[in-house]
Amino acid sequence: MIFAANLKCNHTRASFKIYAEILNKTIGVKCDDIIVFPPSVAFLEKENNFIQGAQNFYPCVNGAFTGELGKEHLDEFGIKCVLIGHSERRALGDEEFIKAKFDFAKEHGYKIVFCIGEDLKLKNSNQTLDFLKKQLEVIDLDYKNLIIAYEPIYSIGSGVSAKKEDIAKVLEFVSSLTQAPLLYGGSVNGDNIKDILNIKHCSGVLVGSAALKAENFIKLIKG
Ligand code: PGA
Repeated sequence: MIFAANLKCNHTRASFKIYAEILNKTIGVKCDDIIVFPPSVAFLEKENNFIQGAQNFYPCVNGAFTGELGKEHLDEFGIKCVLIGHSERRALGDEEFIKAKFDFAKEHGYKIVFCIGEDLKLKNSNQTLDFLKKQLEVIDLDYKNLIIAYEPIYSIGSGVSAKKEDIAKVLEFVSSLTQAPLLYGGSVNGDNIKDILNIKHCSGVLVGSAALKAENFIKLIKG
């Protein structure tokens, strides 16, 4: 199972250092199935027992892109994993930009956690699968370093995850399009993680709020 934590705009350089220390100690050995996306100012240079990923990046090596991070900056921290298409970032850009990021990350061999997810309006009008199919059309579904995270927008940060049957329906559909491991994200917590991980085709979770404390993330991992 894959356990990914998206810390979003939480944690500082100092607090993430402690977070990583706790996680490293508990995991004990290098584990490629535990991924943490800290804020970029908190990236750690040292080797960790988990995979350190970037929540965001600009599809360039370097250049005149004010305020952005390029490959060169990720390289400095040994970062080889990126999150693309999170709904909180999709709100700021278009599909073409997401495609450009995907193509760049693929060209450079990054592990890509690619997020998809519909909002409540689309869900209520039965357009979920059509919408997700469109979100997946811009990327190479055969890319070997791809992980797809299904994160229905209505469940992110709401405290209420999507219904098991809705998740199952989507994962069944996405698994007919790709061999990539499929994660679920959106209000995953200690009370619902077992049920979610038991859903067919579910290879793990992408967790926000419930992973903000290292101890809580560890509890989720340990089950
Ligand atoms: P949440 O966030 O667990 O706080 O709902 C998940 C995410 O946005 O990836």
